Amino acid sequence: MKYGFFDDIKREYVIETPFTPLPWINYLGSNEFFGLISNTGGGYCFYRDAKLRRLTRYRYNNVMRDTGGRMYYINDGTSVWSPAYLPAKTEPDSYKCRHGLGYTIFESAKNGIESELTCFVPVSDNCEINRLVLKNNSGDRKKVSLVSAVEFCLWNAADDGTNFQRNYNIGEVEVEDRVIYHKTEYRERRNHYAFYSVNRSTTGFDTDLDTFLGKFSDYSLPQTVASGKSANSTAHGWSPIGSFRLEYDLSPGEEIETVFILGYIELPKSEKWDGEAAGGIINKRPAKMLIDRYSNAESITNELKKLSENWNDLLGKFVAETGDSKLDRMVNIWNQYQCMITFNMSRSASYYESGQGRGMGFRDSCQDLLGFVHIVPERARERILDIAAIQFENGGAWHQYQPLTKRGNADAGMGFNDDPLWLIGCTHAYISETGDYSILDELVPFENKEGSEKPLFEHLRASFNYTLNNLGPHNLPLIGRADWNDCLNLNCFSEEPGESFQTCANIESQAESVFIAGMFVLYGTKYAELCIKRGEADEAVKAKEAVAQMSGAVLKHGWDGDWFIRAYDSNGDKVGSKECNDGKIFIEPQGMCIMAGIGIEGGEAKRALAAAKQHLTFEYGTCLVAPAYKEYHLNLGEISSYPPGYKENGSVFCHNNPWLSIAEVMVGNADEAFEIYRRICPAYIEDISDIHRTEPYVYSQTIAGKEAPTSGEAKNSWLTGTAAWTYVNISQYLLGVRPELDGLRVNPCLPESYDDITVKRMFRGAIYNITFKRSKEKGLWADGIKIDTGIVPEAPENSIVNVLCKM
Ligand code: BGC
Ligand code: NOJ
Repeated sequence: MKYGFFDDIKREYVIETPFTPLPWINYLGSNEFFGLISNTGGGYCFYRDAKLRRLTRYRYNNVMRDTGGRMYYINDGTSVWSPAYLPAKTEPDSYKCRHGLGYTIFESAKNGIESELTCFVPVSDNCEINRLVLKNNSGDRKKVSLVSAVEFCLWNAADDGTNFQRNYNIGEVEVEDRVIYHKTEYRERRNHYAFYSVNRSTTGFDTDLDTFLGKFSDYSLPQTVASGKSANSTAHGWSPIGSFRLEYDLSPGEEIETVFILGYIELPKSEKWDGEAAGGIINKRPAKMLIDRYSNAESITNELKKLSENWNDLLGKFVAETGDSKLDRMVNIWNQYQCMITFNMSRSASYYESGQGRGMGFRDSCQDLLGFVHIVPERARERILDIAAIQFENGGAWHQYQPLTKRGNADAGMGFNDDPLWLIGCTHAYISETGDYSILDELVPFENKEGSEKPLFEHLRASFNYTLNNLGPHNLPLIGRADWNDCLNLNCFSEEPGESFQTCANIESQAESVFIAGMFVLYGTKYAELCIKRGEADEAVKAKEAVAQMSGAVLKHGWDGDWFIRAYDSNGDKVGSKECNDGKIFIEPQGMCIMAGIGIEGGEAKRALAAAKQHLTFEYGTCLVAPAYKEYHLNLGEISSYPPGYKENGSVFCHNNPWLSIAEVMVGNADEAFEIYRRICPAYIEDISDIHRTEPYVYSQTIAGKEAPTSGEAKNSWLTGTAAWTYVNISQYLLGVRPELDGLRVNPCLPESYDDITVKRMFRGAIYNITFKRSKEKGLWADGIKIDTGIVPEAPENSIVNVLCKM
């Protein structure tokens, strides 16, 4: 069953009912100011950091699931209703929510009044704009009142749930000329405030939540809305809000546009006040200037146009026409869009991630980069340097950093031994995309310590050596706290209920990861390539030797006869082997080892893929492990804490499905490679939205596995490495247009039914128009010249290269 449809021309997903199985959300914002917005108007806004600079309040994990956001109450004399359905919960006569690229539009109508609410964040201002157009479609004159509301978060979102007794005393606002200024803590150390404005004359306002709601009312019908009179309240502590009341008198056919702005202003300390600092009046000039910029209908239309043009630029770097509309819309629109969102958010703020706990993860951010480096290479460069700066001198790293401070922290654990190698992966991807080797010379500190700066290349060397300095008894890498699979905690032995598996004490042990071994082979090879380019031939030889030894160790100690084992636990026993009762086979080492090329020559790769298909794959995807663990295993940790079929314990953990698909490409199996892609691809499973439940336009982290009672049901949408890895898979392996250090490799691997495909790829400043055709004669031509290396060399900037690939 579907709840909406794709509008490919407008690049929107159009939701036709507020009653989606879960809130279906979108993101607003391109640079520093962001909003989360659901199909019922819920969500919140923040500036750069969803924990430390949250502007509006959001009650996570609440009953109802979706709250807050942009609240509008239209009272037409007959009923009180909201253009986005929430908060009023009055069913409109018609409703549509159009989630587009960086904007969301609600089109609804009730009792002859039509409303169009457009929400977006301009490309270059720190604010969210809500444009509400009300139109009288009835034959009669209509008096309509409108009340709007936002609830301010007192900046640090964590305080909402912890130190709120303090919050109850600090809230401060100023109200002046249709603008409510939220200046909590501005009198002391904050140099920023928020404001909420409206561009038409008002008949009332409120800034105090309790007064606004009244006793025993909630947001669905505040007493001030029910009574038809705002209280003009001033918040002193408690929960500050911004609310305006407006009255409209609409003749038949008349249409009125009203603009609300929620903005963020940051000032140098010396310019904070208008006049004396102590008890002073805040400097409102920058807020007023911002409000002025959007004072008329034209300026809003222009901004929306700019937003759309910005997305044209971003998405114009890779455009495929495959003859399959589902594939085209994923490749050209939604998959790339999701990559940009994961770039901005990492795993911090979604409807499943609170914005407080997980900032920018080291491994997550490195992998996300693989999906957006072709879109915004200059920002990828910055990101790499930020990430590298939280690395330790020994190559290890903080596991995450907070975006505002860029300082590493151990809140989500430490000592994950896969972390360092991802840095090589993303740097190599950046250079392959851009040809910009200068990044390797950038001086980057270790652990953000002044004086410790070394060229980025030294960070990669440290990453590479980190694995070599941490080998176990089988010459395989020690796993540390865990590897990519956060929940395979081989050194944890936790018996304390509720204890975090990621941060509790670890025992000293020799537990080893075959997955990291595969990573080392994959990224060690890329490290060696970079060494050669840097003229470090000896280091390249050493690296290649180490890689060859690691491959050998994997085939010797990591091969189980039919597939790659997952790990050795702290007792030296195998994990993910046919010798185990549960957890016989894991997806990650099959994907990673084969991506690294291990076992391709000797036939192990094909056998492992056949085994993965047989044991892990079912109609909704390929599960992480089978059979799932039925009981808790002290020596395995969190993975066995989940009921069978959920999360790391045997769900389809979407992130690693593309690895397996790439592995199928590596052995030339186009059909299964594509099937793995298709099974979890949102556009192809839109029809089962009632089973899948999360948004049909983006990937989710997990889909309940074959052993789960709710198999096929997805959870944790949007912020997942699936976005980036799927994009790598579809663009570089299935469609086969892959940036490499020496140019653009073109080598598709698609089922026979795909023919006559074109791909327009911007690469290092030139445009490559690539045509794929089925033919007996195979080969590659660039501007008519046959290419035998498989790689189209870099062309001069602004040139157009016509590439023909006979497949
Ligand atoms: C989740 C993982 C997550 C980890 C780190 C675990 O509880 O299952 O998916 O990566 O926490 O926060
Ligand atoms: C989600 C985490 O963000 C990611 O880093 C990890 O690899 C996966 N969970 C698997 O555990």
